Formats: sequence, structure tokens, C-alpha cells
Amino acid sequence: MDSLKVYAIALDGPSGAGKSTVAKIVAKTLKITYLDTGALYRALGYVCLKNGVDVNDGGAVEQCIKDVDVSIVYRDGVQSVIADGEDVSSKIRTPEMSMAASAVSAIPYVRQKLLGLQRVIAEKSSVILDGRDIGTVVLPQAEFKFFLTASAEERARRRFDELTAKGQTVTYEDVFNDVVTRDKNDSTRAIAPLKRASDAVEINSDNMSAQDVADFICSTVNGDLL
Ligand code: DC
Repeated sequence: MDSLKVYAIALDGPSGAGKSTVAKIVAKTLKITYLDTGALYRALGYVCLKNGVDVNDGGAVEQCIKDVDVSIVYRDGVQSVIADGEDVSSKIRTPEMSMAASAVSAIPYVRQKLLGLQRVIAEKSSVILDGRDIGTVVLPQAEFKFFLTASAEERARRRFDELTAKGQTVTYEDVFNDVVTRDKNDSTRAIAPLKRASDAVEINSDNMSAQDVADFICSTVNGDLL
């Protein structure tokens, strides 16, 4: 492959598989842009909850977000999500926001609204996008596709450690139940469900650190680019 060409890495998988940790390491190592696409769904979920809208009511959600301007800005390589001028990045990482994001992400209008933004970012420079439908819907032509999995128990443990490290008060059982519920929501929705693209390389990270997974992705990309 021509090393000067802009390329895209699609990194999909269920909640808590470690996608964002891995994607950050890969982006830094390969000096490419990282887009955490889940943050976009979280931002719209946040706007709905802030306005008292039922996140499972497609019509009400559409009405609430149709004029909301969602954008991404990068400061020193770190992504911030802006919704109607408000930087919501620090407000969208709670279990409540995870469930709200999962609910609104099943609404076709929401997915359509966020599709263009993701593709525009991916066109500008080489990127790694993490999400659920990057390899299947957002960037089906991505040069590199990976599907990162881990058992539900392991994913819940990682999420639990992450949340408690941030000072949030959660129980392992609640986090585990959230993981299982989101897996079900995200993989059974009618539009762009969580699914491995047929040409994606599956990586089970149960016994791999984030660095191990990132090294595998970087060596695959570098091997192809050389
Ligand atoms: O990756 P995350 O946990 O921040 O994502 C939050 C929710 O957003 C997830 O439960 C499903 C939805 N999502 C999606 O449907 N498609 C994506 N590309 C990314 C996230």
C-alpha cells in the first residue's frame, strides 16, 4: 500500500472490550487521528436526558436533537465533544449516559445524523475509529478492520475498575448487568447492529493487555504499509 495515502482503521466490538484504550495507543504510535464514535451517541443521549426526553421514544428524541449541532475538536490530540457549544466530554462517562447512548443509538435518525460527521473526519487524515458499525456501515472500505472481544465478565471487570478509578460509586453486579444489557441492545437493534464485518480480524483480548492488542494492530498496519 502507498504509505502516503490516507488510510482508516475500523475497530469495532462490544462495550468494555478495551477499544478506546487500544485506539489511543494505536493513534499515538502511528501518529494518526483517533475518533471515539461512542462519544457522539453519548453526547446526543446527554442532550436528551438534559431536556427530560425519553431516550426510547424515537419521535421525541428526533424532535429534541434535530437542530443540535454536534462537533469534535482536538486539543493536543485529545478529543472533546461539543453539543450546541457545550463541551460535554466530562459529563458523558457515567453508567446512566452509557445506557442513554445505547438507547438513542438504535434510532435511525440519530445514526443518520452522525454518519456524515464520522466520514468527514475519516476523509481528512489517517484515522482509527472505534465503535460498533465502523467496519460494516461507516467505513466499509476501511483498509484495516478489527473486531475486539472479551468475555462479559472480563469486560465488566475492566469497566468497573475504570469507573471506580474515576471515583464513581458502582457495584460490579450493576456494571456487569449494564454490559450484558448493552450487548443485547447494541447487537439486536434493526439498524447498524454491533456485528463483526466479514473481512475484520477478530481479536479476543481476554488474555491480552491493551498494549498487546495495540502492538498487534500497529504491526499489521505497518507490515502492510511498508
Ligand atoms: O463505545 P461507547 O460505550 O462509548 O458507546 C456508547 C453507546 O453508543 C453504545 O452502547 C452503542 C452506541 N454506539 C453505536 O451504536 N455505534 C457506534 N459506532 C458507537 C457507539
